[in-house]
Amino acid sequence: QNILTEKEFVDKDNLTYPFEERGLQFGDGIYEVIRVYKGKYYLIEEHLDRLFRSAAAVKINVPYNREELAHQLDELLKRNEIDKDAKVYLQITRGSAPREHAFPLNTPANLYAYVQDLPRKINLMKEGVTAISQPDVRWDWCYIKSLNLLPNVIAKQEAEEKGSFEAVLHKDGEVTECSSSNIYLVKDGSVYTHPAKKNILHGCVRMRVEHFCKEKSIPFVEEAFRIEDFQHADEVFLSSSTAEVMPIIKVDNQVIGTGKPGSITRVLQQSYERDAD
Ligand code: PDD
Repeated sequence: QNILTEKEFVDKDNLTYPFEERGLQFGDGIYEVIRVYKGKYYLIEEHLDRLFRSAAAVKINVPYNREELAHQLDELLKRNEIDKDAKVYLQITRGSAPREHAFPLNTPANLYAYVQDLPRKINLMKEGVTAISQPDVRWDWCYIKSLNLLPNVIAKQEAEEKGSFEAVLHKDGEVTECSSSNIYLVKDGSVYTHPAKKNILHGCVRMRVEHFCKEKSIPFVEEAFRIEDFQHADEVFLSSSTAEVMPIIKVDNQVIGTGKPGSITRVLQQSYERDAD
């Protein structure tokens, strides 16, 4: 398997990092997960925009300029002969240097990107999934796609242990997003979701969901809702590059609407399907 690094492509088995890697010691880095359909990137511009935004926010110098990076990412798919549905994981850290909290001087960033097959979750998207609620104990800058995912990992593990697909995160009852996806509530024909403030990740698929809603004249309301609102919700769904537009049919013990994926969710799934094709 060919892996893209800050300098060149290397074979997976030849990629090593020193123990004083700031990504490992401080979580001092950022990442992206980019979807690939039939060997082609989906929403690549949106992901590159966010990657450079995250890097700037934490003052990491991306080792390639945007054109070079886009080219190298294309090359990654070519070299690995990817023609199916897949995902690319791309990580950039502040590099390797003796452990000091403050930034090291003259240390180049470390980058790697690799590609992995990822079949679409067709059955789950048809049937819907369940979720649990968890307190959002993350920091205030979740718009940065940072490597510090311990709260997300712990929340997702709780969900996993309860046989659920996702953990819905809330701050004092106000729903922000999920452990690795954005979340939406449908009520009386309108789609509600937390505003794209600094305390949530501005999902690339979320941007498309907003666009699909506009196309279909479905009001897209950036207004936070609360855990209690699930009681009266008509539909709930989540979105991410790996889960696409995924219906949620139950949160904790609360069945959502009829307990089946709703009609607006279906419309948005169809829009996504067309867009990604
Ligand atoms: N996660 N919110 C969080 C906290 C996320 O980690 C993600 C994506 C999203 C959705 O973003 P997008 O639509 O750009 O994929 C929202 C990726 C898939 C991950 O960490 O694996």
